[in-house]
Amino acid sequence: MTTSQAIRPRRSALYLPASNPKAIAKARTLPADIVILDLEDAVAPEMKEAAREAAVAAVREGGFGTREVAIRANGLDTPWGAEDLAAIAQSGVDAVLVPKVSTPQDIADYNAALAGAPPALQLWAMIETCGSVLRLDALGEMAASTRLSLWVMGTNDLAKEMRARLRPDRGPFLPMLGMAVAAARAHGLTILDGVCNEFRDLAVFQTEAKQGLLYGFDGKSLIHPDQIEPCNAVFSPSKADLAWAAGVIAAFALPENAGKGAIRVDGKMTELLHLEEARRMVTLAEMIAGAPRT
Ligand code: COA
Ligand code: MG
Repeated sequence: MTTSQAIRPRRSALYLPASNPKAIAKARTLPADIVILDLEDAVAPEMKEAAREAAVAAVREGGFGTREVAIRANGLDTPWGAEDLAAIAQSGVDAVLVPKVSTPQDIADYNAALAGAPPALQLWAMIETCGSVLRLDALGEMAASTRLSLWVMGTNDLAKEMRARLRPDRGPFLPMLGMAVAAARAHGLTILDGVCNEFRDLAVFQTEAKQGLLYGFDGKSLIHPDQIEPCNAVFSPSKADLAWAAGVIAAFALPENAGKGAIRVDGKMTELLHLEEARRMVTLAEMIAGAPRT
């Protein structure tokens, strides 16, 4: 995977219950980079079949522009999982997001269930069980031999399973967030942070989104349209980031710095690894600026 192939804005991923037609219609107009049509936690058991049909119909109908669209399936260990996977495989959606994986075998099972799907269909997985956080490296390794390309932290389920309290400071979860990002990077996966349940308090949301950025997440999963703009703002390279990047790129281009691995930029030690990060930021900013959404 080259750097430019790996770079694509995935700042904001909005969940919505696929059983809610108004939300689906609205999602086609919202500035989220990713739309996740949910069949799982956000849909009541008696609505599962209708939600599956609605999600597949919405994907076939299109209208999502350049947004990536994913459908979150029910687990293969539920009465709906196998049929969800079969329907999603033929829907033409960009990705299927699978819940509650804990072992590499779980990833292999989902991958096998998608055997007949087009090669472009990606497998995304929730990191939301205690088992998954204990096996992050082994789960990440599955990216090399399966469709797996992205993880989404599922902090609500993780809190429930751990019996931990999920507050905006996320103290109990910080070690796991850091390890999940490290495992994702080790295996070339994109990784999105968990949701902030407090959708009426955007100050709380912004603090939590900035924490995710600090930890290295590519973006954040969202539950409400109001969270999209602040999320995109946090996960877009800032003016200061881009000024820094331009300075680093210009400094390494100077004839006197040719062939050097470490130089001084603005009074700070700057290495070729910083040049790589500077280029990534510039490319990301260009993609954000250049991508028409509809
Ligand atoms: N995606 C798209 N549209 C959404 C939306 C979402 N996630 N959440 C709300 N909206 C729409 C509503 O339909 C409403 O549209 P309208 O003005 O045309 O009627 C508008 O945004 C305002 O909604 P609001 O009244 O502020 O929210 P609510 O109280 O109706 O719903 C939630 C609150 C949390 C139930 C709802 O936001 C939701 O279902 N979120 C997603 C939940 C989910 O998918 N969870 C699974 C993953 S954790
Ligand atoms: Mg869940």
